Amino acid sequence: MRIREATAEDWPGIWPFWHRVVVGGETYTWDPDTSEEAARALWMAPAKRVYVAEDETPDGTAVVGSAYLTPNYGGPAARIANAGFMVDPDRTGRGIGRALAKHVLAEAEAQGFRGMVFNAVVETNPAVRLWTSLGFTVLGTVPDAFEHPKDGRVGLHIMYKAL
Ligand SMILES: CC(C)(COP(=O)(O)OP(=O)(O)OC[C@H]1O[C@@H](n2cnc3c(N)ncnc32)[C@H](O)[C@@H]1OP(=O)(O)O)[C@@H](O)C(=O)NCCC(=O)NCCS
Repeated sequence: MRIREATAEDWPGIWPFWHRVVVGGETYTWDPDTSEEAARALWMAPAKRVYVAEDETPDGTAVVGSAYLTPNYGGPAARIANAGFMVDPDRTGRGIGRALAKHVLAEAEAQGFRGMVFNAVVETNPAVRLWTSLGFTVLGTVPDAFEHPKDGRVGLHIMYKAL
């Protein structure tokens, strides 16, 4: 598996799992009906640095996960980062998410960010364990904010790690 900065040509490899994850409605606060064009504008926005994890598959090298890194605020708070992560649901549980997260945390530090905030982590998402193991803490929880298709109304954690 290799992690590298994404190019515009990577989007067609990201979109199929991006769509699957967002249609699932369990982890992100984006509309499940988000069109491909709007999704690309969200994930590949000019202010974002985008990364992909690629791996060998029976059909050749394929994008199996992606992440973005961006300032979470502007002006005097622009050195606090935000990031997002997605792994192809067919490839989860194999260390790709953890490797992407470590890569993006190192990139954020190298780019001069002093901390990273996740604004809306669904409290029942197993990813909470991943973020906690990487040093993130829950600053607070917006109660009952997220209508989860299986878990019902659940909270959204704001998570933070100093860099
Ligand atoms: C969250 C996500 C990026 C993790 O990627 P991944 O490749 O599955 O993660 P890893 O295999 O590196 O697992 C990392 C840890 O997270 C935990 N974990 C992550 N997803 C899990 C899941 N679905 N079920 C159980 N544990 C999970 C495991 O405890 C694992 O711990 P370990 O490294 O000690 O074994 C991926 O599951 C995903 O894209 N989920 C949907 C989108 C999402 O939730 N993004 C994050 C929003 S905050």
